[in-house]
Amino acid sequence: MGKILDGKELSQKLNFELEKKIKLISEKTGVKPKLAGVLVGNDPASELYLNIKRRRCTEIGIESILVNLKQAITKEALINEIERLNADNTIHGIILQQPLPKKLKPFTKDFNEIISPLKDVDGLHPINRGKLFDYNEDLVPCTPKGIIALLEYYNIEIKGKHAVIINRSNLVGKPLFFMLLKRNATVSICHTSTVNINDYIMNADILITAVGQPNFITKEKIKEGVVIIDVGISKVNGKTCGDVDYQGVFDKCSWITPNPGGVGPMTVSFLLQNTFFTYKNHFKL
Ligand SMILES: NC(=O)c1ccc[n+]([C@@H]2O[C@H](COP(=O)([O-])OP(=O)(O)OC[C@H]3O[C@@H](n4cnc5c(N)ncnc54)[C@H](OP(=O)(O)O)[C@@H]3O)[C@@H](O)[C@H]2O)c1
Repeated sequence: MGKILDGKELSQKLNFELEKKIKLISEKTGVKPKLAGVLVGNDPASELYLNIKRRRCTEIGIESILVNLKQAITKEALINEIERLNADNTIHGIILQQPLPKKLKPFTKDFNEIISPLKDVDGLHPINRGKLFDYNEDLVPCTPKGIIALLEYYNIEIKGKHAVIINRSNLVGKPLFFMLLKRNATVSICHTSTVNINDYIMNADILITAVGQPNFITKEKIKEGVVIIDVGISKVNGKTCGDVDYQGVFDKCSWITPNPGGVGPMTVSFLLQNTFFTYKNHFKL
């Protein structure tokens, strides 16, 4: 079996459709959507990710500005910067690129609460998180949104299936839990304290792994016909890979995301979609 959930192809299709919608509205309003990307310090990986996001913005007609702040910035000064962006009416979306420098990391929650919920394109503000509790998906984190879009585009049945998520972060596992539950899956969340985790993995109809460990999922661990979504990102000998032994499991699973080329481009695509949402909201459209 083995069929590919092609995130690269679907994201291009979605971006192309979004570009047309942006053109229509920006011609009407005379204003393009604008995203502010806040980068603290100069971590090369963060810089690279933010550049990719900004490049995609430009390609489809979203303006973006980079707010590059010094590594040594204080918590108070960063809050002031975010408040300045909140107050700027020309900016419709704000992202604070993670991870933050060590000194600021413990305050991530405070920063998420400062970004206006109306500009919260990463879906991390408590108001947007709370809305998801009621199954409102207006502004939810981009990775889970991208995963659901992939499953739905390829008509993967979610209802009644046992979905197993290996991750409980605010960015991936927790929002995905609600989104799958909304679609009537039975959902299990696994993490480092899960006892007998291999039993959960073997029982999964849909397996979402976001651990960041190469070869975490191998052929022996999975059930025949499982759908595998590989979110994790690692580097092995300079090459990017996911959590799954892709070649090993390919014949045994029914569907699988390549990695790279699966969840990554879908995540960026939904950042663009979320920015479009906050932009439309700004004009009450
Ligand atoms: N492709 C994309 O667009 C995209 C987007 C976001 C993230 N990612 C990738 O996804 C991975 C997770 O990201 P994150 O931000 O959610 O990281 P995170 O906060 O560190 O979460 C990792 C999760 O994996 C669990 N875990 C780690 N080792 C495990 C093990 N041996 N057994 C069971 N569970 C284990 C952790 O459990 P505990 O909670 O118990 O520690 C935690 O819940 C990373 O590799 C990241 O680069 C990719």
